[in-house]
Amino acid sequence: MDKLLLIPGPSPVVPRILDALARPTVSHVGAETAADLSLALENLKKIVFCAAGEPFIVAGAGTLSMEIALLNLVSREERVLVLSQGYFGDRMGQICESFGVPFDILRSPWGSVVPPEDLARAVRTGSYALVAATHVDTSTGASAPVKDYAEILKGTGLLYVVDGVCATGGIEERMDDWGIDVVLTAAQKCFGAPPGLAIDVFSERAMAKRRSLPAVPAYYADVLRWLPIMKEPTKYFSTPGVNEMRAFAEATRIMIEEGMEARFARHALAARAVRAGLEGLGFTSFTRRECLAETLSVVRYPEGIEDKAFRAGYAENGVVVAGGLGETAGRVFRMGHMGNLTGAQILFALEAMERTLAALGRAVEKGSSLRAAELVLRP
Ligand SMILES: Cc1ncc(COP(=O)(O)O)c(C=O)c1O
Repeated sequence: MDKLLLIPGPSPVVPRILDALARPTVSHVGAETAADLSLALENLKKIVFCAAGEPFIVAGAGTLSMEIALLNLVSREERVLVLSQGYFGDRMGQICESFGVPFDILRSPWGSVVPPEDLARAVRTGSYALVAATHVDTSTGASAPVKDYAEILKGTGLLYVVDGVCATGGIEERMDDWGIDVVLTAAQKCFGAPPGLAIDVFSERAMAKRRSLPAVPAYYADVLRWLPIMKEPTKYFSTPGVNEMRAFAEATRIMIEEGMEARFARHALAARAVRAGLEGLGFTSFTRRECLAETLSVVRYPEGIEDKAFRAGYAENGVVVAGGLGETAGRVFRMGHMGNLTGAQILFALEAMERTLAALGRAVEKGSSLRAAELVLRP
């Protein structure tokens, strides 16, 4: 039996997208691939509400999209401020370190976010050229106030980069209105596409900054090498993931058909339904209530439930969730609810959860979590 993949990315890929992936591989510089890339780029700008600016989609993954954002926007003489609420915020710091880019890191406790006041205070030092924030850190399930950060940065001249790997397409990110310079993301989470792509959308200001740098410590990750291909995808720089690109184009078509407002609302509803169900089973959230992300839940194990046994049993019952990362390993499980997930899949997951807990000897009132979730899904 195929298992329902509810790890926090990759998310389940619907047949329409899988069909696009499975069609024969064609020339990477042919008309078909060019049309796929052009459509994906055009839709991507709609998804992050960026009218001007330049979108880039290249073979890779979210970590490459982080490198692309960083390497194209600062020189080694400039300083970066990283706002980190967990594992992936820290990763941005590691990338700075790897490339010798000076940086400071403002960390929140796991499960919470960096308060906007802390950013405001740091900005007043005048030390920075760029601020990088993680929208949703997949290790903690906390969603940062990226719009509030943007307000603070308005008029300061600092570039503002948002890691949307676990948010873009599922939670609002309005580049133009809010003043975000780069949204970096990947295909495998809220887009509901298979993994394999690094995605960055650069504002006009970000492009101007790249053009002002005489050189950057990157070759494949240099956006100026990719720009001619994004403008005219029959040109060659490096072979794109032809099938992934086609699948991604289809994923964005589904998103535009659904409508972004409807998609954000559906993610919010899914999050509430999952949480109602889990609370009904006695689980509590690791993430602070005021920071809960709509795209995943990070859930504490109650006393007596062992991580490996629980996840193995849950998988046997048809659902795969992820364990904790870093300091939360063994203490929590992480459940994604993003992309093209349906209400029926959420109910299936809760029913399987009830069976898993019962098999582990917990007293579970059959159907209680489903009833709680259904009240949210179909009030
Ligand atoms: C917020 C965030 N940023 C960056 C990454 C890195 O993405 P990838 O694993 O595709 O390299 C992830 C991966 O889960 C993520 O959740």
